[in-house]
Amino acid sequence: MAGSGAMPAVLGAAWSLLAAAFLAALVLLRRAPAWLTGGSGGGLCGLFQDLIRYGKTKGGYGQHPAWLRLLQVPKRWFTHFYVVSVLWNGFLLIWLFQAEFLGGSLPSWIQHMHHALGRDSQSEDTDIQHFSVFMVLLLLWLHSCRRLAECLWTSVFSNGVIHIVQYCFGLAYYIAIGSTVLCQVPTNVRKGKEFPVQICWYHIIGVTMYIWASLHQHRCLVILANLRKSKSGKVVSLNHSVPFGDWFERVSCPHYFAEVLIYVSMSITLGLHNVTWWCVVMYVLFNQALAAVLCHEFYQKNFSSYPKHRKAFIPFVF
Ligand SMILES: NC(=O)c1ccc[n+]([C@@H]2O[C@H](COP(=O)([O-])OP(=O)(O)OC[C@H]3O[C@@H](n4cnc5c(N)ncnc54)[C@H](OP(=O)(O)O)[C@@H]3O)[C@@H](O)[C@H]2O)c1
Repeated sequence: MAGSGAMPAVLGAAWSLLAAAFLAALVLLRRAPAWLTGGSGGGLCGLFQDLIRYGKTKGGYGQHPAWLRLLQVPKRWFTHFYVVSVLWNGFLLIWLFQAEFLGGSLPSWIQHMHHALGRDSQSEDTDIQHFSVFMVLLLLWLHSCRRLAECLWTSVFSNGVIHIVQYCFGLAYYIAIGSTVLCQVPTNVRKGKEFPVQICWYHIIGVTMYIWASLHQHRCLVILANLRKSKSGKVVSLNHSVPFGDWFERVSCPHYFAEVLIYVSMSITLGLHNVTWWCVVMYVLFNQALAAVLCHEFYQKNFSSYPKHRKAFIPFVF
């Protein structure tokens, strides 16, 4: 079974650790709000706030000392994450395509990683797993292409900022995520055997869910962009206002909820039993939950008429 059994859960442990860090930040924020949200922007408290907040949720928080402001970069640099992801994951995709369809072999560093992670000699690997991993890498790459296109041509960025640590983390994330997918390839390399395109029920459900969640995420990002545009499409403001329509009627951050659904859809596409990928899903869940809670607070604090029934992140639940 991919991602479990003999495989030392090195990757799974790393993603779980990241998930736990974001969960801890979320709990800290909710359990100790006075201590953690009342900071002046300096010291440990300021650093904590600086590392968990970005964009609009950073703005209203305390006064940043000059040295901290030096560590900030424009939030519009989010675009770089997707440039890196399209290039890196596109490169991995081509490599995997050659290995699986054209009888080539995976790059030696991937084989070393497989050895280091104990992924060789898995007798129960099946041809379907090869296809599932290829599909997930393709979905990840398409997701990055769409997000890049949205950053370039849909979203309207203000002058919001992110911490340089968050920026470097974001770049590393998109390298790590594609590499994690590639590490799920069974190592009984197919050595030119004809590649079986075996479509299973979980591929169909996974891809359907992926398309559905991606459509809603895109719609929600268009709604956010339109808040800053006139009817003719001209950017008329860089302010933050209250979004309405689509999943915004239920939650403050439907695009974050959709992101989690996209990663769940990849887990389904992998056949539901890949433990490593469920650890990635946990990471995305807590990372996006933290951002959603901060965003929800921002709306409630700044807009007195903010719809009371709206949850932060998960419709009817959270
Ligand atoms: N997988 C991951 O680990 C991960 C991590 C982070 C983000 N993401 C994904 O990346 C996407 C973007 O995330 P994000 O955190 O940048 O979302 P975001 O803060 O909501 O920003 C999205 C866009 O909408 C604008 N915007 C936000 N709220 C607005 C409002 N009230 N009025 C007008 N414009 C508004 C933003 O402008 P400004 O902020 O410039 O003002 C930005 O251009 C999401 O789909 C998210 O799921 C994924």
